[in-house]
Amino acid sequence: MRVDIFTIFPGIFESPLRESLLGKAIETGLLDVRVHDIRGFATDRHRSTDDEPYGGGPGMVMKPEPVVAAVESLGPDRGRTILLSPAGRRLDRDLVHELAAEPWLVLVCGRYEGVDERVVEVLPAEEVSIGDYVLSGGEVPTLVVLEAVTRLVPGVIGSEGSHERDSFEEGLLDHPHYTRPPEFRGMRVPEVLVSGNHAEIERWRREAALEKTRRNRPDMLPDG
Ligand SMILES: C[S@@+](CC[C@H](N)C(=O)[O-])C[C@H]1O[C@@H](n2cnc3c(N)ncnc32)[C@H](O)[C@@H]1O
Repeated sequence: MRVDIFTIFPGIFESPLRESLLGKAIETGLLDVRVHDIRGFATDRHRSTDDEPYGGGPGMVMKPEPVVAAVESLGPDRGRTILLSPAGRRLDRDLVHELAAEPWLVLVCGRYEGVDERVVEVLPAEEVSIGDYVLSGGEVPTLVVLEAVTRLVPGVIGSEGSHERDSFEEGLLDHPHYTRPPEFRGMRVPEVLVSGNHAEIERWRREAALEKTRRNRPDMLPDG
């Protein structure tokens, strides 16, 4: 999968793209991630990427020309293009799977009060939100999308785990997990997990997942 990221703060991506699973996937060539500095596409003397809002009010707005020029530098056949925005379609399990099926994603990070509204139509781009709260920029939301989507790219999570049993995949939260020691601060690991009876363990995990979902996310259940 190829991913092109457009930002005015490319440094934010340095260590997240170097470490852990993302870093490994990039190093082994499973992912081709390219970070572009929008500022490099600004044409005025000061390389400005923002300006005052029409109509007045506080804050600045990202100018359309550098953002559009930056994304258009990828050519007309570029991948599915997403502008991170709190006003976008909310990212969830289904959208993550949809995006993971794409061979090429283009992710555009806003800053300030956001990006000039015309950019969405001109590119065109879809607006995607990571939740009903506002961050200061699209860089962390881009990393959220990147990490959620690339977990589904075959080979990325490798032997470290399988996404099929993750929360939301089967309409439930994940079951609780335990590791050594068998007793910690007076709390023992559920006996069934050390029984070696795989059918019983499966049944316990299903029940525990249901119980956890009922407790933490009743809205996910049909009667919730
Ligand atoms: C301070 S925010 C702009 C908020 C905007 N004035 C609003 O209220 O909708 C600046 C940038 O951060 C990013 N951003 C902030 N919160 C986000 C969220 N929940 N999901 C996706 N992107 C977000 C977007 O790229 C946005 O353009």
